[in-house]
Amino acid sequence: MSPHVDLEQEIQDLKKRLNAVILAHYYQESEIQDVADFVGDSLALAQAAAKTTADVIVFCGVHFMAETAKILNPTRTVLLPDLKAGCSLSDRCPPAAFRAFKDKHPEHFVVSYVNSSAAVKAMSDVICTSSNAVKIVNRVPPERNILFAPDQHLGRYVMKQTGRDMVLWPGSCIVHEIFSEKKLVQLQVQYPNAEVVAHPECEASVLRHADFIGSTKALLDHVLSSPKREFIVVTEAGILHQMKRGAPDKLFIPAPPDNDCSCNECPYMRLNTMEKLYQCMKNGTPELTLPAELQTAALAPLRRMLEWSL
Ligand code: 13P
Ligand code: SF4
Repeated sequence: MSPHVDLEQEIQDLKKRLNAVILAHYYQESEIQDVADFVGDSLALAQAAAKTTADVIVFCGVHFMAETAKILNPTRTVLLPDLKAGCSLSDRCPPAAFRAFKDKHPEHFVVSYVNSSAAVKAMSDVICTSSNAVKIVNRVPPERNILFAPDQHLGRYVMKQTGRDMVLWPGSCIVHEIFSEKKLVQLQVQYPNAEVVAHPECEASVLRHADFIGSTKALLDHVLSSPKREFIVVTEAGILHQMKRGAPDKLFIPAPPDNDCSCNECPYMRLNTMEKLYQCMKNGTPELTLPAELQTAALAPLRRMLEWSL
């Protein structure tokens, strides 16, 4: 690509030409967040996708999020800058294995985290995200047993909050499972006035040190409204962009993972780049498509989630 191409300007022009909307998750690189029409957590992005009237949804996030957008708004074209932008939770819950797991618990009401494939969603009774998981599980009729998939850590957190017992699929997020409790405690000693805010995909040993637990959007809202000045942030580092933007005078300290890597970025989310975003809008590919039958089957539990989230 010519070094003189102004990617941001080109993307803005393409947006007008295609009548497109760019939806981006908080874990996208800062430049992508800045060029997007809407930045949100997975629930807000699903809601935005469901109601957009744009012809094209350019989804800057991971595959399951783009799939959700397509299922909720099937007449729109959905583009994803890199189709390989998967998710460890979704990838490690293959539909055939999930079917077998579900068959072992035939009486259970199936609540699936949105970080799952369309095929797993299609086998579920209702979907949840990290921002509405407690609300959704509380809505499951009390006489029903619950099977929760695929994030065991979110599942345990929800069990604690709701008092409901649940059978858990043993999945986890490769980004959130490697935060180090030891390093977090060391940071707390170093910054005694800092509040710890954490995503519920973290392990219980990390979550027990958190002053506030919530979805990416909930974490953002919390740090912006809190009177505290310092925060240790235990989630993917992309969220720091909006935190610093919203409160430039506050200090945000990213929690360190349990390895020598100094960053905690989601390798799947970061497959999307400004260059790929530009190329996908210019070429109209890669486009996310789904078999019509699967789309219909996955729509019912997603719709139920949106209803139960109100
Ligand atoms: P949110 O729903 O909080 O945006 O989380 C999505 C996700 O993939 C977290 O790892
Ligand atoms: Fe999936 Fe974890 Fe990446 Fe979120 S951060 S998209 S759960 S791998």
